[in-house]
Order: sequence, then structure tokens, then C-alpha cells
Amino acid sequence: MAGRFPMRSPVLSYLDTLHARYSGIKEGKVADYIPELAKASPDAFGICLATRDGHLYEVGDTRQKFTIQSISKALTYGLALEDRGEEHVLSRIGVEPSGEAFNAISLQEGTGAPYNPMINAGAIATCGQVLVKDGQTRIQRIIAYLSKFAGQKLEVDEAVYRSESETGHRNRAIGWLLRNFDIVDEDPHDILETYFQQCAISVTCADLAVMAATLANRGINPLTGERAIAQEYVDNVLGVMATCGMYDWSGEWIYRVGLPAKSGVGGGIMAVLPGQLGIGVFSPPLDKQGNSARGIRVCSEMARGLALHLFNPSAAPQPAVRHSYNGNQVVSRRRLPAAAAHIVRRFGDRIRVMELQGPLIFSTFEPVMRALLRQAAYSRHVIVSFRNVVSADEVSLRFFAAMHVQLSFAGVSLVCCHLGGLTRQMLTAGVPPEAMMETIDAALEHCEDQLLKESGEVSWHESGRITLKRCAVFGSVTEEDLAFLEAQLPTRTYAQWETIIHAGSMADELFVLTSGTVEVRFTPTGSKLPQRLDVMTAGMTFGEMAFLDGSVRSADVVAVDEVQCRVLSRELYQQLDRDRPALKIAIVDQLLRLLSSRLRQANVEISALRN
Ligand code: DON
Repeated sequence: MAGRFPMRSPVLSYLDTLHARYSGIKEGKVADYIPELAKASPDAFGICLATRDGHLYEVGDTRQKFTIQSISKALTYGLALEDRGEEHVLSRIGVEPSGEAFNAISLQEGTGAPYNPMINAGAIATCGQVLVKDGQTRIQRIIAYLSKFAGQKLEVDEAVYRSESETGHRNRAIGWLLRNFDIVDEDPHDILETYFQQCAISVTCADLAVMAATLANRGINPLTGERAIAQEYVDNVLGVMATCGMYDWSGEWIYRVGLPAKSGVGGGIMAVLPGQLGIGVFSPPLDKQGNSARGIRVCSEMARGLALHLFNPSAAPQPAVRHSYNGNQVVSRRRLPAAAAHIVRRFGDRIRVMELQGPLIFSTFEPVMRALLRQAAYSRHVIVSFRNVVSADEVSLRFFAAMHVQLSFAGVSLVCCHLGGLTRQMLTAGVPPEAMMETIDAALEHCEDQLLKESGEVSWHESGRITLKRCAVFGSVTEEDLAFLEAQLPTRTYAQWETIIHAGSMADELFVLTSGTVEVRFTPTGSKLPQRLDVMTAGMTFGEMAFLDGSVRSADVVAVDEVQCRVLSRELYQQLDRDRPALKIAIVDQLLRLLSSRLRQANVEISALRN
């Protein structure tokens, strides 16, 4: 009956409460030093939270347009860093909080370099660092750049731009001072117009939240999947936002709210919780520092209410080892003949599998390195699975490559698998391609082969055609009964990749493989890719489960190469009760043994994977 009630996320209800609580508060004053800004309604109020994977929670006026103003400074700083590199930009614009108002004429003594890129002086100098390139003017490049953060094409509000251009005498004075100190090395007129236009770019509160989420998501816009800023500069941008983004209130802001943020006199605030989420708040009345008064209150309360303070991470990084087990607890899907299976069981503890999970960064990968070093004393082969790894930074991959070298010095082979999109980065980090395998199963097969080779057992399967006597299911059958079976069981051959058993079909036959290899494939509901459940070779039996319990076939069986089988029909199997009861008992007895040893192995695997 769920659909009958209007379902509302508790997150939205929380934001509703916040919105209701603060919409009644009438503090602050709408900016009027840029005449066009004075037209903003003091009651307009929106809150938007954007998650790192692009979900937006919005309440109030989140789609009303206003000008971005100083919030643009943080993003354009990213473009200047991309254009000129960190050292060059740092030589012109500092990164020290000035403790002064946003429009202060504050330049460092001697050099004339602005204290930081968030105050007007620094932001104007930053505009001057943006290159005119690819046939585009500075403002065109800035608009295109900011549009990537917003995930849509942004535009300049011409009325606000003109209004500021006509009245921005103080900023003009700053521009000329910058020219005087050669911080800007051309006529500052064009740079100032670019700056005024950049401040007049029209956005919504939702845009600010998406921009913030893009910074939170290491520079990739979570809505479009497009990179907005080179990853290497995300830290720099967030760094100046954290220390200087709220002007002379920055210290108190980071103390109380604890989120890198940037405000604008249009009434917007953009705040970032790195790696997690972005917040946009819009409310035009400003406090005396020029920050949105309601915006500050909402962010302070959200930071406390949702425990977002950067320096109080509520969750320590999760350990990256999800499961760890030996090669005698979990074996490859390939079913081995008794002798080979015995060797794998006996020496399987020389194979160690570690399944990793979550994001790999230094603090989650460091315990993995410790575990690998400990393991080296007991193992010859270590398989590391990346199947549940959501991301791996350069640092962890570099350390993985170093572990690979270390372990191989110690005579331990390190194989990684399920790399997916990480393959290229892994190669770049220096891990050789031969240490990479598609799946855990393929890696297990590879390591089992090594074990078999080391112990002198060169082959993992019977080769060529074998007699019925060597087939496990007939292991205890008398010579006379064998001759009977030889005469009675029809022979069937299958070409490579032919399907022998179709999932869903009736099961009235039991197959005994006398040559070749078959694979059992199961496609789980909701998945397109079949999983390999079993690989069987000559001497083994398949199709026995549904044959015994009378249900339909649960998986496909496919011939991996040319295959020959002998087939026991249900009819003959039932006739044996009457005609050859001893043969029937010998077969059932053997089937029970096979099934119970398989069940035993499954139990070992399940318990290894559960802890
Ligand atoms: O330069 C100015 O004064 C405006 N275009 C931007 C100032 C601003 O947004 C200050 N932030 N709170």
C-alpha cells in the first residue's frame, strides 16, 4: 500500500524544517552598492544539497536566478591554475587570509601581490592570469569553464554587468594598482570588464550545489560525468575557499561550519564537503562582511545537524580488505580429478586471496600493505581482487606496484584481478600486464597450475578419451556391469561451444564425460553476463542434480572443446532397480560421494567468504 501515502525523503523534511525556521529571520541587508542588485527580493530563499553521485535535494527558491558574484572567484582561480601552473600563479597572487573586507585595497607590502584570490584584488589579478586562447576571449573561456561546473550553459546577466561596470570605481582603482605593481601586465581595462562580467554570470541555488558537488567529486560534475577542473587543482581551490572564502569571517566560519565555502553579494553561498557533497544556499540579505546572513545560519546549522564539519569526520576510513582466504578454502571453478584436487587441498594454503573494497587511498591501502607483508611469510602466490574497489588514487596504485616488486624479491607472485577501468592506471603505476588477470577464478586457476607444476603433477585433467571404468561415477562397478553399460549407454558428441544442456529444460539424462571439457554457466536474475559455475573434464559427471531431484535444469552446460559423453537415460536408470540392483546401488553410492564432497567444499567456501 506504499504508493497511497505521499513519500518524502527525511532529508527533504529536514531541509523543509530548516527553511521554515530561517525564512522568518529578517537579518541583513540586500547589497545596493551595485544598483541592479538592490532589486533582489529579501524574501527569496533556497537551499539545495547535491550528493556526490548527483542527487539534488531542493527546498524553496532553488531555481530562481541571481548573479554568482564572488563565488565565481574560486572557480576562475582553478582556470588560472590550469592555464599558468601553480608556481606562476603563486608568484602573483598569495594564499594568505587577509582578515580584511572583500573590497579592501590590500596588497602585500613590497611586491604588491594581493593576499589571496578570494578578495577583489586577488580575483581581478586572477582574471588577468586567464589566457586568451583557442579563438576565445577571457570571458568566453570563463563562462565555458563555469558552465562545466554547473552542468549547463551559463550566461551573463547584462543588466547587472552594466550596473557594476558603471559604478565599480573602487575595483578600477584596484586594477590600476595591480598594473602599477606589474601583477597585471597589460592595460587593466579589459581585465576589469572580464571580472565584472564574470561576477554577473547568472546561476541558481541548484547550480551552486552542483558546482560544489563537482568540487566534492574531485572535479567531475556528477550530473554530466564531465571533468570541470583538473584533479590536481581541486585541493588548491578548496584550500583557498577554506582559508579565505568568507573574507574576514573565514576563521570563524571554518571553526563553526568547517566546510570550504565561497559567498557572493548576490546572496549565494557554495559550500563543499570534499569527497561527499555540495551545498548551495540563496538568500540576498547580507551581513556586514558581505556574506548571506541566512546562508551563514543555514550552513552552520546543517554542518552541526548533519555532522558535516570537515575536521570531525564521523566515519574513519573503512579497512579495504573485505575477505581474505587461502586457496584450499576457495578453489577455482575448475573441477579437478582426485589426484590434482588432493594436491590443491594440501598445498592450497600457499595461495592467498585478498578481496579489497571501497575507495583505495593511503589510509585504506596502508593496512593492506601490512597484511601483504605478513602474508609473504606463508604464501607463494597472492591474488588481490579489485572487484569491490570503487576508486583507487595514484598513491595507492603506486604503493601496490612497489608491493609487487617487494613480494617478487621475496619469491611471492602477486596477481591482481577484476581491475576493470583501473587497468590503465595500474600499467602506468608500473605493474606488468602478466600480473593482471580477468577474474579471481582465472587467477586461482593460474596459481593452482603453478602448485600442480611445483608438485610434479603437470596436468590438471585427463587427456584423450577414457574408458567408463575411469569415470568416477562408475568407480565401484563390476567388470560385468561395465560391459553392460558399455553396450547400453549411447555415445554423444558435441562440437566446440555447442550447448549440451539448456537451463530450464527437463532433466531426464545423466551425462558422463569421456573426453573434452565442459563449462557450467549460470546467468543470475537481473544479470546479462553468465557466471562460470564449474569446469569439468573427462571422467566427471554432469547434469546429475536435476536428474536426481526431478527439477528442471538450472544452468547451461556448454562444450569448451570437442566433447564426447555417454548418456544414462532416466528410463534405464529406473530399470536398474529391477534388472541390476547392485549396479544401481554402486552408481547411487558413487553419486552420493561426489555430491557430498562437493557440498563439503561449498561449506568451506561459504564459511571462508562469510567471515
Ligand atoms: O567586486 C565586487 O564587488 C562584486 N562583483 C563581487 C563582490 C562579492 O561578491 C563579495 N562577496 N561576498
